[in-house]
Parts: sequence; structure tokens; C-alpha cells
Amino acid sequence: MNPATTTTDPLLAYREEFPGLDQQLHFASHTLGAMPGGVPAMLARYAEEWRTHGIRAWEHGWFASPTATGDVLGSLFHAEPGSVSMHENLTSAEAIALSCVDFTAPRNRLVCTAEDFPSVLYLYEGLVRRGAEIVRVPARQGRTIDEADVVAAIDERTAVVAISHVLFRTSQVLDLAPIARRAREAGALTLIDAYQSVGSVPVDVRALDLDMLAGGSVKWLCGGPGAGYLYVDPRLAPRLRPALTGWLAHERPFEFDTSPTRLDPGPRRFWNGTPAVPAFAAARVGYEILARAGVAAIRDKSLRQTGRMLALADEYGLPVGSPREAARRGGTVALDVPNADRVCAALLAREVLLDHRPSVGLRLAPHFYTRDDEVDEVMKRVRDEVRR
Ligand SMILES: Cc1ncc(COP(=O)(O)O)c(C=O)c1O
Repeated sequence: MNPATTTTDPLLAYREEFPGLDQQLHFASHTLGAMPGGVPAMLARYAEEWRTHGIRAWEHGWFASPTATGDVLGSLFHAEPGSVSMHENLTSAEAIALSCVDFTAPRNRLVCTAEDFPSVLYLYEGLVRRGAEIVRVPARQGRTIDEADVVAAIDERTAVVAISHVLFRTSQVLDLAPIARRAREAGALTLIDAYQSVGSVPVDVRALDLDMLAGGSVKWLCGGPGAGYLYVDPRLAPRLRPALTGWLAHERPFEFDTSPTRLDPGPRRFWNGTPAVPAFAAARVGYEILARAGVAAIRDKSLRQTGRMLALADEYGLPVGSPREAARRGGTVALDVPNADRVCAALLAREVLLDHRPSVGLRLAPHFYTRDDEVDEVMKRVRDEVRR
């Protein structure tokens, strides 16, 4: 196979915006996306603003930057401007969202799945102290979550349905439509962990009529650490009162008013303390590239390249631990090879970027900047390392 060109693969035009890619085989965008070349300049600009404007830097864009950044990000999942607030990570974004929920019986259940990311499962555990009853929908064979099981777990006792769109371990895509529909019918809120989907698999918060969605930027969004986010449906937001709050969620924070808080009507309602301005500045570079590339095109390419990886896995006799059907397949292919930890370490030592997770084996993800010849090369390297 000849290396793809920008004629046969237009998304490769964005490759030059990621200067590190030629030094490695980068198959780790499900865990740490490549760094855009524009990040150092963005961070230098932030430092320059700090140096030259001092305290006035807040009015020179710092204060507005989290919302402006959230708007660029929100465009990737069809969120209305002003409906995304930026946070440190997904876990804190979900904590803020859940601090708005009343877990008084009889409507005190949180429905999640056994395959959600451990960080949020730990967070849900903590809600038991606030009266929540956690309903964890178990996986069927092969760690598959059946949407019908989630739908069946939702009823009038459900306060919130908090599930992943794409499961972190197997990269299974969950069909959110029937789940969101059932939640609405039962009067429950939805809170979607979209960390493994936004930037890789299309998400439309409006078409799905989702209440809340949280994610982070380290992976598919190529945004680096420190830039989690929370979307809240603007029709719902004014009715939510986060208990996890702070001075910058106040309508007029600089009045330093100590009487009961008056929450901001916009996205600042979900802020708390001082925002992580440099992390959001760095993350914005990746969001802008993804917005230009287009998530639909990214998804088409991902399906083509993961399909190619599955075919090569079959040809080389490598067991597959992730779904095969296109509609069920996220951006990552899991190869459940023996001694995945050792194979992974050996490949990492040779500049192949990937990772592994217990019970699914190696995880490898092409992204919009991946060439087809790299897909072929990484699969050969895995095959050879497994044989060794
Ligand atoms: C699906 C999913 N949710 C949550 C997280 C953790 O997010 P954070 O560390 O930003 O809280 C991850 C990270 O790997 C993930 O894959």
C-alpha cells in the first residue's frame, strides 16, 4: 500500500499542524492526543499578556477566555453558544453537575453502567452519603453494555442517568437515543460522559435532547491536561443550582457580596474559583483544528482505518477485544493479546505510542492525522512483538 496523500485522504492536510508525528507511530489519541504545533505560541501569548498587562490581563481576555473557549469546543457537539463551561477535568465537571441534583427518595437513583470510567464510579459512590442509590447496569458477555438493559433500569425513581457515550475500555459506542428518550419520559436528567466520543464520534446534544454532557481534552481533542468541560442545556441551566460553587459563579463576583449567592444566568453559573486560563488557551488550539477538519470526516476516516486494523488483526491471528460492527465501534481497537503489558512496554520503547488496559489488552487508536501506511506498520509491529 502506498502512503496516502492529501488527494486520497484530505484530512492528512492537517498533519503538518502536529509537528511531532513523524518521530513516532502515534496510536494513543484515545489517551493522549498529539500536541498541535500552535500550542507553544498560545502559551507564550498567555505569558506575554501576564507580563505586559499584569492585573489588567483579566480584562484583556482572561476572564472571557473560558466561555470563548467553551464556545469553540461546544460547536463540535452542536451546543448553543454560552452553554459550555470549562473545568479542570471531567471528574470535577461531573461533580458540579451532580451537585445540582436532589437525591431525596423516592427519586434518588443514579443509573450508570459497570463499564463507566472508574473515576466517575468513585464519584457516584460518594453520592450515597447524599441519599443516592446507585444502579450499575452490568455488562453482558465481552464487556458489552446493552442499551435495552440501561433503558430497563430507568424508572420514576431515577434522578439522573449518568453513562458514557463510548466506553473507555472496549470503545463500544452506546446508542444514546433510546436511553435519553426513556430518561425524559421517566422525568430523569441525563449526564453523558463524552470523553471518548467528542472529537472522534459525532455527538449532537440538541438532536439527542441531552440535559448535560461532560468531557475532557487530553485525548481526541488534542488539547492537553487541565481543560475539562460541562455542557448544560440552556433551557435547564437556570433551574439548576450547583452546591459545588464559588465566587466566580456569582452574578457580580466583584461586589464580593456575602449575602446568599445570586448565580450568574450564563455559563459562569457552573464555575467556582479562578479558571485555569493557560490550560484553556492551550486546549483551544486543538479544538480549532478539529472544528476545521470536521467530526463527520474524522469519523469516516476512523471507521475506514479501524476497519483496516481489524482485517489485519484477523490476518495476523491477533484476538480483538473491541466491537467489530461499525455502529458499535468507537475510535479505538483493542487487541487482547497475551502479555499485553510487556508487549506494550516493548513497543513504547521503540517509539510506538499505545497503551493497554486489564481484560481488553492493547489499545490502539488512529486519528485524523494518521496515514494508512502507519496503520499497516503498527499492526506489523504488534504482530512481531507478540510473536517475540
Ligand atoms: C470515558 C472516560 N471518562 C473519564 C475519564 C477521566 O477523566 P478526568 O481524568 O478528566 O476526570 C477518562 C479518562 O481516561 C475516560 O476515558
